[in-house]
Amino acid sequence: MTGAEARVSTSSTGGTGDFWWGAATASYQVEGAVDEDGRGPSIWDTFSAEPGRIADGSSGAVACDSYHRWREDLDLLSGLGANAYRFSIAWPRVQPTGSGQVNAAGLAYYDRLVDGLLARSIAPFATLFHWDLPQPLQDAGGWIVRDTAQRFAEYAAVIAEALGDRVAAWGTLNEPFVHMALGYAFGSHAPGETLLLDAFAAGHHQLLGHGLATQALRAGSRQGSTGGWGSTGGRGSTGGQGSTGSPPVMLVNNLTPVRAASPSTEDAAAAAVYDAFHNRMFLDTVLRGTYPDELADAAERVVHDGDLATIAQPLDLLGVNYYNPTLVRAPGPDNPLPFELVPIEGYPLTGFGWPVVPEGLTDLLTGLRQTYGEALPPVVVTENGCSYPDEPGPDGTVDDAARIAYLDRHIAAVGAAREAGVDVRGYLAWSLLDNFEWAEGYTQRFGITRVDFATGERTPKASYEWFRERIARGW
Ligand code: FCB
Repeated sequence: MTGAEARVSTSSTGGTGDFWWGAATASYQVEGAVDEDGRGPSIWDTFSAEPGRIADGSSGAVACDSYHRWREDLDLLSGLGANAYRFSIAWPRVQPTGSGQVNAAGLAYYDRLVDGLLARSIAPFATLFHWDLPQPLQDAGGWIVRDTAQRFAEYAAVIAEALGDRVAAWGTLNEPFVHMALGYAFGSHAPGETLLLDAFAAGHHQLLGHGLATQALRAGSRQGSTGGWGSTGGRGSTGGQGSTGSPPVMLVNNLTPVRAASPSTEDAAAAAVYDAFHNRMFLDTVLRGTYPDELADAAERVVHDGDLATIAQPLDLLGVNYYNPTLVRAPGPDNPLPFELVPIEGYPLTGFGWPVVPEGLTDLLTGLRQTYGEALPPVVVTENGCSYPDEPGPDGTVDDAARIAYLDRHIAAVGAAREAGVDVRGYLAWSLLDNFEWAEGYTQRFGITRVDFATGERTPKASYEWFRERIARGW
């Protein structure tokens, strides 16, 4: 075996078989404890302190308090029968200023978390960057400046050294498109920049950071020496790159099937440009070492010789976050952008107002296979889920029937893609817990577990019970 197949092999023991079933969270959305044990400020602390930025005026200062209640979270995963947990590491906990000095107390939290997962036979999927950039790096320009990619690689080396003997898979970045678009182009997320198309640099430098970090993770991770995931050969073990190699590395993208609003040439062209920004900018680069033609002008301004070779490091897994398709038309005369998004009609909407289109996930996965062929590594659905304004009934239980239907139909959509020949290795629901939903604060509940934000109390919803049974059934 060569390439991705050799790097990721799965064993099939236990009810979960050779498939990763579990849930995902992100550091700023669940941890809280923003001032504890030497954590430095992140751009989300700064952003949420600014009036009007967050729908309910809240922040992640306490969130689900997972920094203290992580054992309960891990027990919830155990109770679910999950064999994988995707969490993210807060860079400002590990390097409070984003460079140099490592904060041992912050790192120790992830040490506990990883060991707690291993003790429960749950594979740790660690994402290095889920949007909480250390504020001092933002003060120096954030992802708009090239240097941030280098800082990210240094941070990755620290993490590889600390956890590389035990994690089951690395995720470098979470959704570089969304961070570029909402954080740097439109300003609805931290750091709140409104650079429109000039935000491209933030996308490119994240990609460069991904490439450099991938090299650092592979150089610095040593599996198998201390009884971690790689050496256990436990259920669903990835095997990594051999007993002393690195855990598999993945990039996690938010991907969307893009449809043109009409058959007109103008709408089709606008849809192609949108697809280039949202999807292909973060796939063609990584899987083929090229930028899509539509982005050639933007790329010319920021891409240096050799960048694309760095970005196109072989990838072991592709993480796909799916929420909904996107409908695009040609821009109106006053629109500074080369596309315009149109609401999708004819489908039920989640609490967020996102259309529920499960077949879009099958289309997306089979489309990836068609477009990238053998260059497509095995895929893990690293996020999929929905927010609904679910409230506990008089007996305290949460009957979230709409979420059950959503998960059921999307998992079936993954099954259809598998049957069509797409190598999908996992499905991780977003999210294990209701949490701080970025600009929406606590107004959007995505959890299969309800969190009472006043007390921190966790109550599994009906969807948790349903998911437990679904996982037990396997494929
Ligand atoms: C994704 C994010 C995740 C969460 C879900 C709803 O874009 O990666 O943190 O907010 O959306």
